[in-house]
Amino acid sequence: MLKTPVYIIDEKNMIHNLEILQKVEKESGAHILLAQKAFSGFCMYPLISKYISGVTASGLYEARLGFEEFHKENHVFSPAFGDKEMEELTGICDHISFNSLSQLEHHRKYWEKKALEGNLGIGIRVNPELSTQDEHAIYDPCAPGSRLGVRLCDMPDKLPKGVNGLHFHTLCEQGFEPLLKTYREFENKFSKYLSSGDVKWLNLGGGHHITREDYDVEGLIGLIKEIKDKYKVEVYLEPGEAIALDAGDLETTIMDIVQTEVLPVLILDASAACHMPDVLEMPYRPPLDDSGEIGEKKFGYRLYSRTCLAGDVIGDYSFDKELHIGDRLTFKDMAIYSMVKNNTFNGMALPDIAVRYSDGTEKVIKSFGYEDFKNRLS
Ligand SMILES: Cc1ncc(COP(=O)(O)O)c(C=O)c1O
Repeated sequence: MLKTPVYIIDEKNMIHNLEILQKVEKESGAHILLAQKAFSGFCMYPLISKYISGVTASGLYEARLGFEEFHKENHVFSPAFGDKEMEELTGICDHISFNSLSQLEHHRKYWEKKALEGNLGIGIRVNPELSTQDEHAIYDPCAPGSRLGVRLCDMPDKLPKGVNGLHFHTLCEQGFEPLLKTYREFENKFSKYLSSGDVKWLNLGGGHHITREDYDVEGLIGLIKEIKDKYKVEVYLEPGEAIALDAGDLETTIMDIVQTEVLPVLILDASAACHMPDVLEMPYRPPLDDSGEIGEKKFGYRLYSRTCLAGDVIGDYSFDKELHIGDRLTFKDMAIYSMVKNNTFNGMALPDIAVRYSDGTEKVIKSFGYEDFKNRLS
C-alpha cells in the first residue's frame, strides 16, 4: 500500500481526456497545448504528447520543462519577461505571446531576427473586455482594472512588425457558450487584425472544460472550423484542467480524531494550505470518495489538517460508517492545480507522486523528504 499523503495520477482517466482532446484536434484542425501551470507531471508527458500538439508555459521554468520533457510545440506567455529569460526563451520556444506593446518592443532585439526568418511566432495577448464569470472574480482577466491583455483602445492601427499572432484568455472552468460569446466579442473588436493577412494564428487561451461530460465538443469543433475557414489562421487552445480533469487523487490518513462542540474533527496528514491550496484560494469543497454533505449520511466530521493554521479546513463531510484513526480518505480530482502549487508550510512533507496505470497497478514515481524542505530555504 502506498504511504500517505500521496498524489496518485490516474492514467486511465487521463487517456479518456486525451482521446476527447485528440478528437477535437483531428476534427477541427486546432492545436491543443497543455497549460503546464495546471499540471506539470512530466512523467506523463510521453503519454500526453502522443495525443496533443504541445505545451504552453507561464514563464521560463515551465518553458524549459516543456522543452526538455515534451518535445513538441512549446509556447509561452507571461505578463512580463526578464531580459535574460527572453534570451533563453527565444532558443527553446516556438511561440512567445506578450502582454503589452512595451514588453514586445523592449524584447524586440531578442526575438526579431528569428521571427522575421519565420522560426518564431510572436503574439500579443488582447483583452476582449467581456466578463463571462462572476463566481471566481480572481480568475477573471476581463475584470475592470485587469493587467492581462491589451485593450482595443490601446492597440495600434496596424500590428507591429514581426507580430503574427493574437492571444486571449478569459475563461475558467467554463463550457462552450461563454467561449462563443467571448469569441464573438473578440471578433467584433479585433477582426481588422484577423483580416489584415498579418495574423497567422489565434490562441483562444485556457479555461475550456472540454473533457467535462456536459461540454459541447461539437460546438467547439464547429467554431474552430469557422475561424480557420474565415480568417485562414491556425487556432490554438491551451487548456490545463481539461487534460488532467478527474485524473488524480490525493490519498490521506486520519492521524487523530478530536471532539469539538460543532463536529468531531479528523486530523489528516494532508493539508488544504500545503497540498491543495485551491481549496482555500478558490475556494471549493474537494470531492471525497464515499462521502456526502453533512446530514446526508450518518457520521459527520470536519476535515482538518495537522498544520497549525486554524483555517486549514478541507470541509465538512458525512459517511455511512464511523471513521477511525488509521483509516484512509481519498480526495478526487487532485491532479490539477495541486502538485504545481504545493508547499512545505509548517515543515509539512510534500506528498509522494505516484501513477495508477491502466492495468490497476500503482507505482511511486517520486518521493520527497526533509532535503526538499531544506533546499528551498537558507
Ligand atoms: C494564459 C492562460 N492559459 C491557459 C490557462 C489554463 O487554464 P485552465 O487550466 O483553466 O484550462 C491559464 C490559467 O490560468 C492561463 O492564464
